[in-house]
Amino acid sequence: MGKILVTDRVGQQHDIDIEAGTNLMEVLRTLDNGIEALCGGMCSCATCHIYVEPKWFAKLAPARDDELELLEETESFRKDESRLSCQVEFNPELNGMCFTIAPEE
Ligand code: FES
Repeated sequence: MGKILVTDRVGQQHDIDIEAGTNLMEVLRTLDNGIEALCGGMCSCATCHIYVEPKWFAKLAPARDDELELLEETESFRKDESRLSCQVEFNPELNGMCFTIAPEE
């Protein structure tokens, strides 16, 4: 069990308990001002876009080409922060990870 610190689209912070192996998108879609995750994690909608703080961004496995291509098509893309939350699995190394849900497109 670990924790993530999430800032939602209205600027509210959430301190959330999360199990190793859990997909971040699954947790974020349960928040009131969370994400839509329209494609259900198939890496095809970008509605699960998040901005990961640089310290934590560096600890993530690199994005695959399809994730990166989808992110680059969004207006809100930030090269050193953007990830699709459906493509990130929580692991103990990410305990305390901070990120913000990106604006709706
Ligand atoms: S949920 Fe659609 S791309 Fe992540």
